Amino acid sequence: MGNSTNNIPFNKLYTTNQELEYISQAIANGQIAGDEAFTKKCQQWLKQALGSQKVLLTHSCTAALEMAVILAGIQPGDEVIMPSYTFVSTANAVVLRGGIPVFVDIRPDTLNIDETLVEAAITSKTKAIMPVHYAGMSCEMDTIKALAAKHGLALIEDAAQGFGSTYKGQPVGSLGQMAAFSFHATKNIVSGEGGALAINDPALIERAEIVWEKGTNRSQFFRGTVDKYTWVDVGSSYLPSDLLAAFLWAQLGYADEIKQRRLRIWHRYNKAFAELELQRRAQRPTVPSECQHNAHIYYLLVNDIETRTRVLSVLKQHGVQATFHYVPLHSAPAGRKYARAHGELSVTEDICDRIVRLPLSAALTTEEVDRVIGLVLQTLAA
Ligand SMILES: Cc1ncc(COP(=O)(O)O)c(C=O)c1O
Repeated sequence: MGNSTNNIPFNKLYTTNQELEYISQAIANGQIAGDEAFTKKCQQWLKQALGSQKVLLTHSCTAALEMAVILAGIQPGDEVIMPSYTFVSTANAVVLRGGIPVFVDIRPDTLNIDETLVEAAITSKTKAIMPVHYAGMSCEMDTIKALAAKHGLALIEDAAQGFGSTYKGQPVGSLGQMAAFSFHATKNIVSGEGGALAINDPALIERAEIVWEKGTNRSQFFRGTVDKYTWVDVGSSYLPSDLLAAFLWAQLGYADEIKQRRLRIWHRYNKAFAELELQRRAQRPTVPSECQHNAHIYYLLVNDIETRTRVLSVLKQHGVQATFHYVPLHSAPAGRKYARAHGELSVTEDICDRIVRLPLSAALTTEEVDRVIGLVLQTLAA
């Protein structure tokens, strides 16, 4: 049994030593509400990094997804196509507007929505597609973009895990009309809780600011384009405190270094498990040639649920926190009530039983990574 000093957490917080300094600055400036100096700096930085028309910080990716679904004009009874293999927030954002998530299966290689199954799921009620870039690996966006254009559908990227990844050289999050990012503590760049909505369609900017500011035209008031602000639309309070934006600003300054650190660990795992794949004991992640990923997750697909249980239990006994991932939404109680599946979701069901996610964070040491590798090899070779 591993003792606590030897424990390897699934996710270890990586800080840059500047977080407290910036938070102190925000306090000293007396600016701790939303839309203050650090929020503006982060938004500008992200806008430039993504090449987006506008970026609004939010207090979570969940909030950014909710905003995107409002901006896409989803009404009761409208259908939105997405994978079942995702976090609840992708679907909840739609259900909160009275819409119906329609789940299609995922690809067995990238675990992303299977773009070849999307068109058959489109009906007269379909209003949007929400691809999820699982593990920071981009979906097959050219095909999905072409389908959205052909059928006049909104395209909302769930880029919760995708910050810093690219598809055909374009940043993930710049490929749909809108994209939602997460800066939750479990992500690559963090602010505890946090997120952003990237808006790539200029026609949506004005309304986005209103929805963000509780349905008021407060942003226009601060810019001096209206002389008082009032309630003009639906909305909510989607702004984070500038204290969180100050934390995020420290992280953004090290975004590339954090990605490189994670990539080194990802590649160390990947090289170490090559032999396992040749022996058909586990499948490693697939990286399509169009994709450069951000090393958000390192996972293995083992052969069956019994093997998965064994690997997780051995790692746990040695103080290593590894885990599986989503319970497919179509099989969850709320999924059965509020959503529907299009066709068989057999890949989704199979994958969720066989996936093992290994510890990965910019703060992990090489020795820790090698200890995880040793335990996995030992268990799967047995
Ligand atoms: C695919 C996906 N979408 C949305 C979210 C929600 O992010 P947040 O916790 O920032 O609301 C997550 C969080 O893990 C996620 O993985």
